Amino acid sequence: MAELRGALIGCGFFAVNQLHAWRDIEGASIAAICDRDPDRLRIVGDQFGVARRYTDAAALFAGERLDFVDIATTAPSHRMLVEMAAQHGVPAICQKPFAPTLADAKAMVKACADAGVPLMVHENFRWQSPIQAVRTVLDSGEIGPPFFGRISFRSAYDVFSGQPYLATGKRFIIEDLGIHILDIARFLLGDVSTVTARTARINPGIAGEDVATMLMDHTSGATSVVDCSYASKLATEPFPETLIEIDGSDGTIRLAQGYRLTVTGRSGTAVSDVSPPLLAWASRPWHNIQESVVAIQKHWVDCLTNGTEPATSGADNLKTLALVEAAYAGAASREPVQLDALLK
Ligand SMILES: NC(=O)c1ccc[n+]([C@@H]2O[C@H](COP(=O)([O-])OP(=O)(O)OC[C@H]3O[C@@H](n4cnc5c(N)ncnc54)[C@H](O)[C@@H]3O)[C@@H](O)[C@H]2O)c1
Repeated sequence: MAELRGALIGCGFFAVNQLHAWRDIEGASIAAICDRDPDRLRIVGDQFGVARRYTDAAALFAGERLDFVDIATTAPSHRMLVEMAAQHGVPAICQKPFAPTLADAKAMVKACADAGVPLMVHENFRWQSPIQAVRTVLDSGEIGPPFFGRISFRSAYDVFSGQPYLATGKRFIIEDLGIHILDIARFLLGDVSTVTARTARINPGIAGEDVATMLMDHTSGATSVVDCSYASKLATEPFPETLIEIDGSDGTIRLAQGYRLTVTGRSGTAVSDVSPPLLAWASRPWHNIQESVVAIQKHWVDCLTNGTEPATSGADNLKTLALVEAAYAGAASREPVQLDALLK
């Protein structure tokens, strides 16, 4: 089978992980890169030995025969670039947040569906091996049907030095980080019918909220709490670990700091270390996220090769983005928000 020929658009902070991951994956490679910033194009092109370089995405699509495009720019350009990919019949991966608004995201899903091209959102957190380990326990039936979950990400890690734009937007933690944690809640407990949310800004040096607490009703009947903070100084900094508590009718799952998984269920209690592997190019504490980038990109290659729908397809991610919209609306109104109305 011929190797898939891809291009990457947006050679910034996070794209470097994606390029490392593409090198690790059989069946696909990055033949061309694009960034409107010539310095980033040069630095990243030289680092990864990619000779075909473009400062303009339209020129990239006109000049290359592509099997897919990996869009790693920030959200304001996502709609324009995904629609450009659809017009050229090129399957697209789009970084999270999928789009600045749900209306944009719906238009992007429609553009790709109309063009018959696959679209996957690079929603990688559910691909982290500790999160997959929790899913495996749920699937085993060990704790019975879940009725409660807490998915928690609390940290004081300085994300602003690597991604300065995060300090300037009106929206911060729900849109940037909470989106991943909300997606994990959907992945583990299923779709959501109602969200109640509260937010706060503790760090006076940023424009958006850095604390968010969401209470969710899942359509299964389960209740979950998703809580996120970049204002929580802890004895041992947990970044970027997502901590999980799930209670089922026959037992419990606890994913605690240090990637320690405790399952108490039908066969007793088992404690295991579900630490992610440290890939050759990875660095702590990002290795958890870096490993998930390889996993999601492998999944994309499998989906393109087999003609199957990605788990985090554009259509699937509308439900995660709707949770972001619902959380902001609910925090502003202090009222519960129904998801049905947003997803129509
Ligand atoms: N999934 C994750 O774990 C994770 C982690 C960090 C960042 N991200 C996401 O990755 C995306 C990129 O974040 P970043 O921190 O790397 O941003 P960044 O600003 O460092 O990089 C974005 C790059 O895209 C380029 N760009 C923007 N618009 C363009 C256009 N129209 N055409 C060509 N190039 C363009 C910029 O010049 C810049 O080099 C964001 O959506 C962010 O939320 C995801």
